[in-house]
Amino acid sequence: MADRIDELDPTQDIRAARTSIKWTRFAPDVLPLFVAEMDYGIAPAIEEALIARVRSSDLGYLDGPGPLAPAFARFAVDRWGWDVAPERVHIATDVSVGIVETLRVALPDGGRVAIAPPVYPPFFELVEEARCQVETIPLLEKWGVWSLDLAGLEQAFAQGVRVFLLCNPHNPVGLVHEPATLRALAGLAAKYDVLVISDEIHGPLTHPGVVFSPFAPIAASAGARSVVVTSASKGWNLAGVKCSVVVAGDGRSAALLDTFNDEVACRTSILGLHANIAAFSTAVDWLDEAIARVVANDRLLNALLAEQLPGVVYHRPRAGYLAWLDFRGLGLGDDPAVPLRENAYVALNSGLGFGAEGRGFARLNLACSPDTLREAVARIASAYPSSTQSEPVWHVA
Ligand SMILES: Cc1ncc(COP(=O)(O)O)c(C=O)c1O
Repeated sequence: MADRIDELDPTQDIRAARTSIKWTRFAPDVLPLFVAEMDYGIAPAIEEALIARVRSSDLGYLDGPGPLAPAFARFAVDRWGWDVAPERVHIATDVSVGIVETLRVALPDGGRVAIAPPVYPPFFELVEEARCQVETIPLLEKWGVWSLDLAGLEQAFAQGVRVFLLCNPHNPVGLVHEPATLRALAGLAAKYDVLVISDEIHGPLTHPGVVFSPFAPIAASAGARSVVVTSASKGWNLAGVKCSVVVAGDGRSAALLDTFNDEVACRTSILGLHANIAAFSTAVDWLDEAIARVVANDRLLNALLAEQLPGVVYHRPRAGYLAWLDFRGLGLGDDPAVPLRENAYVALNSGLGFGAEGRGFARLNLACSPDTLREAVARIASAYPSSTQSEPVWHVA
């Protein structure tokens, strides 16, 4: 296990081996810690599944989820106690397409869709792609603790928002919503008959000791409508093979998803489907090993920042491998990712893409080797030496 996951460590020649955006967007002297791809080598079971499909020349079109539906259902019940009815499982090209296709059938004539920034940047575009209007109800933050603004959401629902696009767990702050919050959200969704589309792509990456709650069963108990969109693409590092799972949480949503155009399944990759099956059924140990490495890097980053960049406030994730960093203490302006890339040769995601709430922030990818993380912090500290002299700032737990 450890050998395979380490195989493409950046201390070896990862840049020569990979051709994805992470390794091609910036010059080789820039350390890439931006897009949500892991540096780890993929799980052997997934590699074998993909090679087997290629060897069999089994590279045609798909007609539906087939064996992926029961494989995902088994994973969901084992991992989270969520009982998924396989007949309520659909597939789409990826999570983004699953969201757009759900919006298309839910709101064929458009309508208002709420999102909670700072949030995964494409949420803004996905809503517009489905010819709907974005309504922002920002997350609340108090002493480094983030939460959904339930009062703000209720007001938006009462004023005609038809869909809420929930990020569960929430990218970029790594928030795993409390069950009580999700129950309250489900109560509001039922009261105002709002459909909640829950993007749960980071759910499998929940850290040890933290309980992740899939939204669908909570919604169903409250009589609310929900659709969960997820994939093995984030947890097992498979973004390029293109397959997501779209699950109806209740009878009305099941009827809605049954109206998906046949093309939605057909546009999903057969390689992605088999990679997802292998991930959910035989690569769970690999997932747990990847999470352990991310959690170790989270602790390491916290220590490195406290030591070398005390002016940076780190909002530590409880799921996923993305670190939300507040650079306002360093005086790097509204978009610190730009000076950090130009002066420290470290590429992070610009906080501004996540909404106005991301002003002064940047997002860093923790799914790398500890040495990569050490190098990134050292580069930033040496580019901004004065930042190492300020008073220590409390790092948010
Ligand atoms: C919350 C969230 N949703 C969706 C995606 C993209 O998923 P996909 O590539 O399956 O569209 C990401 C990628 O990082 C993400 O963080």
